[in-house]
Amino acid sequence: MGEAFIRFENVEKIYGSGEGAVRALHDASFTIGKGEICVIVGPSGAGKTTLLNILGGMDTLTSGRVFLNDREVSAFDRRQLADYRRRDIGFVFQFYNLIPNLTALENVELASQIVRDSLPAPQVLTDVGLGERMRNFPAQLSGGEQQRVAIARALAKKPSLLLCDEPTGALDYATGKQILALLQDQSRKNGMTVVIITHNSALTAMADRVIGIRNGTVAYARLNEHVTPVEEIEW
Ligand SMILES: Nc1ncnc2c1ncn2[C@@H]1O[C@H](COP(=O)(O)OP(=O)(O)O)[C@@H](O)[C@H]1O
Ligand SMILES: [Mg+2]
Repeated sequence: MGEAFIRFENVEKIYGSGEGAVRALHDASFTIGKGEICVIVGPSGAGKTTLLNILGGMDTLTSGRVFLNDREVSAFDRRQLADYRRRDIGFVFQFYNLIPNLTALENVELASQIVRDSLPAPQVLTDVGLGERMRNFPAQLSGGEQQRVAIARALAKKPSLLLCDEPTGALDYATGKQILALLQDQSRKNGMTVVIITHNSALTAMADRVIGIRNGTVAYARLNEHVTPVEEIEW
């Protein structure tokens, strides 16, 4: 686990203004090392999605600083943020966000329109276990399979950072486990940094690093001494 790859310094995020203002994050500081699997855990409304959206360049902060690999993301202008989202970040969401009228293959091929040196879509789909389902449309796939397509689409860009917001939130227990195992496996194989948001504290066992979020700030951050393969975690 190397030096800090991601660094949050006293990040504050206030939505709205005046009487309607909501302070979603305050004094949020932490680091994440390159190649780590980091699980961010906390109750609903704690500020997890806000934090991930700021890290992924989908939202801007009110004060504080965010760095990725010594580039200050919080100082990027709109154009730089767009490049950053396209080139550096892979996103995986709870509800997959696939294009319904494109096949699995075509959804993953979208990556080649975003970055120049994307991985071949058939290869990545095979890698996530969907070699036989490439010609299917999202509606012809199960929830777990659709999430695999979404992961393949993110991986095809070869992102330096994969961000997953409640990736198993819409899946049953066994399927959710398979998806988390896939993420753990991909991180290990490719040395890819993966940040996973969850409200399920049992999942912290799979992480190299755990960051607990409560009431808009970091309640604790720790390294896991005994990382557990997802297959062995029960919840
Ligand atoms: N776009 C927004 N406008 C106003 N308030 C928001 C917005 N997004 C999130 N919030 C508020 O910020 C707080 C943190 O939300 P969020 O980051 O989504 O938490 P979590 O992902 O941990 O459930 C909540 O009080 C939420 O209502
Ligand atoms: Mg959320």
